[in-house]
Amino acid sequence: MIAEDQKRAAGEAAAALVEDRMVVGLGTGSTAAFFIRALARRAAVEGLRIRGVPTSKATAELAGAGALPLIDLDEAGEIDLVVDGADEIGPGLDLIKGGGGALLREKLVWEAARRRVVIADAAKRVAQLGRFPLPVEVVDFGHAVTARRIAHAVAALGCEAAPRLRQSGAKPLTSDGGNPIYDLPCGAVVDAHRLARTLKGITGVIEHGLFLGLADEALIGTNDGVLRLAS
Ligand code: A5P
Repeated sequence: MIAEDQKRAAGEAAAALVEDRMVVGLGTGSTAAFFIRALARRAAVEGLRIRGVPTSKATAELAGAGALPLIDLDEAGEIDLVVDGADEIGPGLDLIKGGGGALLREKLVWEAARRRVVIADAAKRVAQLGRFPLPVEVVDFGHAVTARRIAHAVAALGCEAAPRLRQSGAKPLTSDGGNPIYDLPCGAVVDAHRLARTLKGITGVIEHGLFLGLADEALIGTNDGVLRLAS
């Protein structure tokens, strides 16, 4: 099975978790897109009265195209279920997210959700987080100075890698909130909680892509079907 089929299987399994009248957090990325399309099909066929809270403009467009009713996070207040992809799924279902640049809105929606399900293809499962460069969203003002402070702070934790400003063609890529994103290729993350605390302690850092202790369940597409893991 190729990765796309695994992502589709995970997305469709997650869509089956949604119940009538739920407020559903809609993740961002190619795996979440399979979930959203499957959910839109279910809603149309079964008449589910659900409301979605999108984690990005791209997701809002996709959900809108599928005629899913949308509300924003403030209107929702609490979310029954969030389903979202990940760039890496480590032990204990700790995650790296943000490869699609939506980490801040994703984390806000995840933290407002009662049940949090990560969906992925099998290649996303790792024995240790860190092969995927860690996304860090920063304030635009003085972002290069903030990046130097990030480099200095993480060097003290054994990460000598320089943060790389994410580009979109010739220009810096910005998040939906208009903020630059740096990618931090540290390699193996030995103490994810310490790294998370360190990054959040730096003025100018808005959010990082470490989702620690947030995922309750994982649905992972494999060649032998969808593997279900609980944290
Ligand atoms: C978006 O910012 C990310 O957190 C995505 O959820 C993550 O990059 C996974 O994307 P894919 O499902 O496209 O691999």
